[in-house]
Amino acid sequence: MRVFSAVVLGAGGVGKSALTVRFVQNTFADSYDPTIEETYRKPIKVDDGFCMLEVVDTAGAEQFTAQSEIYIQLTEERSMRDVEFLRHQIYRIRGVPIPDTGSSLGSSTSALPIVIVGAKSDLISEREVSRDRMASLSQEWGCPFYETSAKMNWNVTEVFEEIVRQIRAT
Ligand code: GTP
Ligand code: MG
Repeated sequence: MRVFSAVVLGAGGVGKSALTVRFVQNTFADSYDPTIEETYRKPIKVDDGFCMLEVVDTAGAEQFTAQSEIYIQLTEERSMRDVEFLRHQIYRIRGVPIPDTGSSLGSSTSALPIVIVGAKSDLISEREVSRDRMASLSQEWGCPFYETSAKMNWNVTEVFEEIVRQIRAT
């Protein structure tokens, strides 16, 4: 069986572990336990093909932020800027030039497998990043986006299936 590797990146407390654990173990915990780094493996069937998906759940930048602040920052506008920074890091580390996104001709195609995730979509009242904003980022980068909720189990499997599709296509 082929083994694919995915890395979950993002600021501290945005919901990376909850997403990963919902995918791997189908559970959700309200408590917050900052991650150092965890690696999981789960067999997954995507479009009639089985593979093993290895998921590396990383530490967020502000992993020791107080619990109360976590709920503020999660929907925060700033998490969008973190995402742009992370994309640059991914391309730089992989040694791949960033596709030109300035074109008015429409969407670019992502050269590297990336899926944009807007987590905690069940926390509607705390929302700061609009769906339009995510959609335009998604178009600009040529990466699909999903709004997920680990708590409600919304779109969680879809995210990991999509990354497998993208990796396969490379
Ligand atoms: P670091 O490991 O520190 O980088 O954080 P993280 O990105 O892994 O965040 P984590 O998944 O630990 O979630 C932080 C807090 O948000 C926890 O208290 C979770 O229960 C909560 N949380 C995560 N996902 C969701 C969600 O989909 N909905 C709701 N309501 N809360 C969530
Ligand atoms: Mg974590």
